[in-house]
Amino acid sequence: MLYSDKVMDHFEHPRNVGEIENPDAVGQVGNPKCGDIMKMYLKIEDGIIVDVKFKTFGCGSAIATSSMATELIKGKSVEEALQLTNAAVAEALDGLPAYKMHCSVLAEEAIKAALADYYQRQGLPVPEACKFTEGEEHGCACGL
Ligand code: FES
Repeated sequence: MLYSDKVMDHFEHPRNVGEIENPDAVGQVGNPKCGDIMKMYLKIEDGIIVDVKFKTFGCGSAIATSSMATELIKGKSVEEALQLTNAAVAEALDGLPAYKMHCSVLAEEAIKAALADYYQRQGLPVPEACKFTEGEEHGCACGL
């Protein structure tokens, strides 16, 4: 089986899909090669992510990793969420095929982009950990 049961479960029943009205932060990232797009909405109270929703225009692995990533950061502090890596998300899904690992980068980047937005809205300097090189790390292998 190419995909783990967890990947299939999160792909077929993605958690936290949608939008948040009046979010405290929004992040959108895209993969320039395949055109996949991910948008992440956060509701943050006292530095804790109390709600998170996402929308993905992308492949199954992008959907499954976003779904798992939202589950992993919900209820966590902003600082904890910043530590989340795409490798940790993939591990929580019991792995992804190597050529789909780049898809998981979208989820990490969308969270970081949203957190950067949060810091900016607070008038605070954006931490280094929010930064990423858009589009460079994840040359899409989807064949497009
Ligand atoms: Fe483009 Fe998965 S993110 S194929």
